[in-house]
Amino acid sequence: MRTVRVNTSAPYDILIERGLINSAGDYIKKVTSAKKVMVISDTNVEKLYAEKVVSSLEKNGFETGLFVYEAGEKSKTLDTISAMYSRLADFNMSRKDIIVALGGGVCGDMAGFAAATYMRGINFIQIPTSLLAQVDSSVGGKTGVDIAQGKNLVGAFLQPILVLIDPDTLKTLPEYYVNDGMAEIIKYGCIKDGSLFKTLEDENALDIIEDIIEKCVSIKRDVVNRDEKEAGERMLLNFGHTLGHSLEKIYNFEGLSHGQAVAIGMVMITRASQRAGLTESGTVERIISLCKKYSLPTSDKADVDEIARYCASDKKAGFGSVNLVLLKKIGESYIKNTPLNELGDFIR
Ligand SMILES: NC(=O)c1ccc[n+]([C@@H]2O[C@H](COP(=O)([O-])OP(=O)(O)OC[C@H]3O[C@@H](n4cnc5c(N)ncnc54)[C@H](O)[C@@H]3O)[C@@H](O)[C@H]2O)c1
Ligand SMILES: [Zn+2]
Repeated sequence: MRTVRVNTSAPYDILIERGLINSAGDYIKKVTSAKKVMVISDTNVEKLYAEKVVSSLEKNGFETGLFVYEAGEKSKTLDTISAMYSRLADFNMSRKDIIVALGGGVCGDMAGFAAATYMRGINFIQIPTSLLAQVDSSVGGKTGVDIAQGKNLVGAFLQPILVLIDPDTLKTLPEYYVNDGMAEIIKYGCIKDGSLFKTLEDENALDIIEDIIEKCVSIKRDVVNRDEKEAGERMLLNFGHTLGHSLEKIYNFEGLSHGQAVAIGMVMITRASQRAGLTESGTVERIISLCKKYSLPTSDKADVDEIARYCASDKKAGFGSVNLVLLKKIGESYIKNTPLNELGDFIR
């Protein structure tokens, strides 16, 4: 068993082990005195894994409920949250009871938001089943939903009390989503860990996925520890994301997956910074080959000025400027505040 301890204001453990999902209840029992557990999952993941988790919980004496929503980002709305609240109340959940998020990033974000707000806050546990959730979204305490005006515009910070990662669940994850998660893994190598980047180049990540997951959550843990509420260093995790988000918006969140957009964003920004002499030469070429190795796109036909315009509307953009994350070299990153009116020329 690998354990990554996260020392946020309320510390918690991330446990990583193949087959862990079958004994989820044993580990949950150790961190809570709850009587009731509401398991929240989507229609795909529920079919594959809910039975295992529920039976392990019941073996440990918990009374369990199950809330299942239609799989996909389209469900990440206040309507779904509202249905969740009703289910929690009908199940007579008290302040001491807990929510378990069993699924990908959509599930964790919504279950976490419901937990942050139901009765002004109850505890929750993450059992992330997508690669993206295992290396990224289950760590850091951001929860929330989308509204018509934008993605993740409503949310709360809430740390889970435990994260259980079972890499065996990735065996059923469609390849499209595996690649999506790989983009975030490549991102971690780029911003913080040259040796992780090299491992991804030399080996097949899925063969050593436990090592990789442990490495990635440790990196995110360290960054979040130092900057829980995103005042500084945490921005580094946005590498490739500023331009990536613009691309996602240009395609109305349908043409490109998040990971694909991030891959293109990492390549675009690094090509620009390398050309400007701000990044060691040869860096963008390595990112391009690594993205290709993991079936991620590295370019897009979208208009540069349009991309820059969309950056201005990003919720993370400041007044008249944007914090770009650039690489000094692979494994070393920094933030460069750039006026929005110079962004188009910079990335052209
Ligand atoms: N909170 C954060 O810090 C943070 C960080 C990054 C992303 N996110 C959010 O995460 C979401 C994207 O996450 P995601 O890609 O995991 O989305 P998701 O939860 O919709 O999962 C993607 C798809 O994979 C399926 N799936 C998940 N695990 C599976 C498994 N083991 N076997 C078979 N199918 C499985 C799901 O049913 C879904 O169809 C976005 O909403 C994004 O905003 C949050
Ligand atoms: Zn991302």
